[in-house]
Amino acid sequence: MIFNINFLKTKKQKLALSLLFDLVHTEILFGGGAGSGKSLLGCVWLIANCFKYPKTRWLMGRATLKSLKESTLNTFFDIISKFELKEAIKYNQNSGLITFFNEAEILLKDLAYYPSDPNYDSLGSTEFTGAFIDECNEITYKCKEVVSSRLRYKLNEYNLIPKLLMTCNPAKNWVYHEFYKPYKENTMPHYKAFIPALVSDNKFISPHYIENLRKLKDTATRERLLNGNWEYDDDPNKLFEYDDILDLFSNYIESSNEYFLSCDVARKGEDKTVLMAWRGLEVLEIQTYPKTKMNEVADLINTMRMKYKIPLSNVVIDEDGVGGGVVDLLDGCKGFIGGSSQINTGSKLLNYRNLRSQCYFKLSDLVKEKKIRINADPSVRDLIIQELEQIKDCGDASDRRLAIIPKDIIKDAIGRSPDYADVCMMRCLFELKQEIDIDFYSYFAKL
Ligand SMILES: Nc1ncnc2c1ncn2[C@@H]1O[C@H](COP(=O)(O)OP(=O)(O)OP(=O)(O)O)[C@@H](O)[C@H]1O
Ligand SMILES: [Mg+2]
Repeated sequence: MIFNINFLKTKKQKLALSLLFDLVHTEILFGGGAGSGKSLLGCVWLIANCFKYPKTRWLMGRATLKSLKESTLNTFFDIISKFELKEAIKYNQNSGLITFFNEAEILLKDLAYYPSDPNYDSLGSTEFTGAFIDECNEITYKCKEVVSSRLRYKLNEYNLIPKLLMTCNPAKNWVYHEFYKPYKENTMPHYKAFIPALVSDNKFISPHYIENLRKLKDTATRERLLNGNWEYDDDPNKLFEYDDILDLFSNYIESSNEYFLSCDVARKGEDKTVLMAWRGLEVLEIQTYPKTKMNEVADLINTMRMKYKIPLSNVVIDEDGVGGGVVDLLDGCKGFIGGSSQINTGSKLLNYRNLRSQCYFKLSDLVKEKKIRINADPSVRDLIIQELEQIKDCGDASDRRLAIIPKDIIKDAIGRSPDYADVCMMRCLFELKQEIDIDFYSYFAKL
């Protein structure tokens, strides 16, 4: 039995298939717009591989098995029936396994993040020849890394290289930073590729579908799905608007004579120690170090304090982990414990799950009001933008308290710890205190 891949394709699908069968690219992202032929490309590629390489094993994944079965798998079976290949496969719905006549197989996988399996150990036991992840923006960076690490089954036998095909619509998460940005800035590593494809590239789609996309009322959704605009994030839970974040680097703000220092101390190997010196709400200087010893961090803080004449009482240091030791060495500074209770600012209306959430909401207000200015090198600037975009409200109505998503979820989205955002957030501890003063002041003023 043969599957002839020489059917009519869009130009973009043709380009993608040429990269998918070369011996250079191991990670290919296709799409960036709705209805651009993403799912069809992935299914055709898997079928072609299964026909070509007997006894190989391929992964077809999506965040949930439900969405995989309701959409991507339908496209798969449409192709199977269009090419009259029903006799060539067997589908076991319970095990999510599609077996081909030549013993090649496609395993359907649920790739969602489950707190009970944070390291995706459930994927760890199976080796695959290659993988197709549809709508990869719905999975975490870590999951993508784990899938990549499982691609080695029968590669040598067929002289293949590991291939991971991912498709998605624009999303402001790891996909943006791993693919779209390097593509736009021409810094993509040679083994990775992004092929932008929009509905306008798909001549096979109904004009009514395009019309419906044009009629979308929400600008962000229309920009993303119709025009493939990656700069719009329509997540309603985000705390910082993209334009407000960009303004951070050019805002004109009120001058101040008071100086502050905020510092996050590296905990694990990949985290960084970050120090920020502030004049009022302006970041004057940012220093970044790899994992550093306690007394070295204390020295760095003292050097920065001396430079800007910052009193110890205006210094805040993350007290969790190694930072706790630094706080002990610098008697008189403020230790920041993100998980501790909120500070009472006198407001009866606002309740926060913890201090970290309270300070992030305060930072969000100050950023919206254009009261903060950050002076930073372009590379650090990009990291700050990336991190602040990931800070989101948990949106948990049952808890009745305002809360920020846990750090681990942010790490999964961007592949690292949000060190710079956290250091900006900690600075807001001093602004909460001011609220108490203002409240007292207005209280006495009324008497
Ligand atoms: N090469 C092709 N030949 C014929 N029809 C095609 C081709 N590519 C895509 N189509 C058709 O275009 C439509 C959209 O394709 P597909 O579902 O693969 O797009 P998508 O980008 O995955 O869409 P969505 O954003 O909705 O997930 C489908 O009806 C599909 O059958
Ligand atoms: Mg699709």
